[in-house]
Amino acid sequence: MIATTGDLEELRRQIGLWRGDGLKIGFVPTMGYLHDGHLALVRRALALADRVVVSIFVNPTQFAPHEDFERYPRDERGDLAKLEREGTHLVYLPTRETMYFPDHATWVTVEGLSEGLCGITRPHFFRGVATVVTKLFNRVQPDVAVFGEKDYQQLLVVRRLVRDLDLPIEIVGHPTVREPDGLAMSSRNAYLSAEERRIAPALFRILRETAARLARGAEAAAELEAARQALLEAGFTRVEYVELRHAETLAPLERASEGEGRLLAAVHLGGTRLIDNVPVRPDEG
Ligand code: PAF
Repeated sequence: MIATTGDLEELRRQIGLWRGDGLKIGFVPTMGYLHDGHLALVRRALALADRVVVSIFVNPTQFAPHEDFERYPRDERGDLAKLEREGTHLVYLPTRETMYFPDHATWVTVEGLSEGLCGITRPHFFRGVATVVTKLFNRVQPDVAVFGEKDYQQLLVVRRLVRDLDLPIEIVGHPTVREPDGLAMSSRNAYLSAEERRIAPALFRILRETAARLARGAEAAAELEAARQALLEAGFTRVEYVELRHAETLAPLERASEGEGRLLAAVHLGGTRLIDNVPVRPDEG
């Protein structure tokens, strides 16, 4: 049976033993309901470290009151079976009570990077992510942590907090894992009806086609407007944003030739919000 603990002292004792043996510790933080995208992060961590810790914690502070915290899918037993098959060494399962004091008052805010894109409609989100990730880093004390590129803005926010707070942790971004039809794997895909699931892969298709035109030198403003229209025509009920940004700073780009680009989007399909992003590489246009 795989080793699990919700107890911070026990986690620290195990980490201390591994450190004493000079072992390199890898970490993958998750909110559970694991799919192949998460398992790819675990495999990457296993390739990079001697021991791998995975945390499962649906973090309440990154959800607004009207969001899906209560109905977020959970399957602890299934998750543990998957992690055991991958060879995970330890699963850390904190609870809300052991993660946050009732009067928790200290927050990690990454200014700038957290403010645009997803930060516009989810202003609470990156503060919750940055705070819980910092707490998890303090608890697990990993040498390396792996995050998916699917949550691209989150990856940059985590990289920045690690840099700014002098945390001695290497942050590795792992490419998005997709269904055969291109839909980025996400726990929230479980919310989609059969009809919505049929529409959903159009997000990746339209992003890829737009990225190719941008890479060939097209002007961003016109291409982004065309992408927005194409998404609505494909059946998405709302387009929150489609943006060409600098891949490291997230500053808006007017043309792909201005710097390393990333095309990012958030759309809604009925009650489900989907995000995705692709690189824009002028030499591949
Ligand atoms: O990407 C996620 O699943 C979450 O935002 C994370 C990084 C586990 C923090 O709760």
